[in-house]
Amino acid sequence: MAQNDVLLRVEGLSVAYGHITALRDVSLEVHRGEIVVLIGANGAGKTTLLETSLGINTPQAGSIIFKGRTISGLPADRNVRAGLCLVPEGRGVFASMSVLDNLLLGAHHNMRNVDRNLKRVYQWFPRLEERKNQIARTLSGGERQMLAIARSLMSAPELIMVDEPSLGLAPIIVNDIFDILVHLNREGYTILLSEQNAYKSLKCAHRGYVLETGKVTLSGSAAELLNDPGVREAYIGA
Ligand SMILES: Nc1ncnc2c1ncn2[C@@H]1O[C@H](COP(=O)(O)OP(=O)(O)O)[C@@H](O)[C@H]1O
Ligand SMILES: [Mg+2]
Repeated sequence: MAQNDVLLRVEGLSVAYGHITALRDVSLEVHRGEIVVLIGANGAGKTTLLETSLGINTPQAGSIIFKGRTISGLPADRNVRAGLCLVPEGRGVFASMSVLDNLLLGAHHNMRNVDRNLKRVYQWFPRLEERKNQIARTLSGGERQMLAIARSLMSAPELIMVDEPSLGLAPIIVNDIFDILVHLNREGYTILLSEQNAYKSLKCAHRGYVLETGKVTLSGSAAELLNDPGVREAYIGA
């Protein structure tokens, strides 16, 4: 793929928390228009990778390049304005606020076009419009995940990073969440997601990377990874 199709490039990234190394020399790419999944067990470094890409952690080594510009070291709010966003693990919805206020918070880095973005978000998530005055605490787990994704769309991102969207959700709801990610991808959003749910995420992704204790151990097309005996044994259970 052409060089200018690379939306996010992570190069030789190492991140440590004190003396705990969370990522070791990790490199990956996300091309414009792709869904890329980062597969890894608990503690593999998925959240660290996404948070560091957003600008929440400072890397020990390596660089993060977004739309051809090195962004490592820049603050997260600036990266959000440039078109990056993260739907955090555990959703990060403000439980005591209404659905609408949660959505408006997502827009605070990009107050231009709030009405237009809200209208579009309500088209994709009609259930959130019906519940716009409801307190977020009273939403179901799946609805909260939808709210978290919808909130991220309010900053008009180009790359949506989603950290373990299926965590704690019933299988049927997980299908709805992945359907929405596929739909958003068809609408033009590029998506990088992390998952322990390898089977369902690879079914909707174009490519994937396997992360094990802070290192990328395997990468390939979704079909290659789905057929890889090691992936099947460790992450799919077949
Ligand atoms: N704030 C932190 N302080 C110390 N260690 C951390 C912190 N966050 C994560 N870690 C450690 O870094 C490693 C990677 O964690 P994480 O990125 O959360 O993995 P994952 O999201 O794949 O479960 C783990 O060993 C974890 O214990
Ligand atoms: Mg995590």
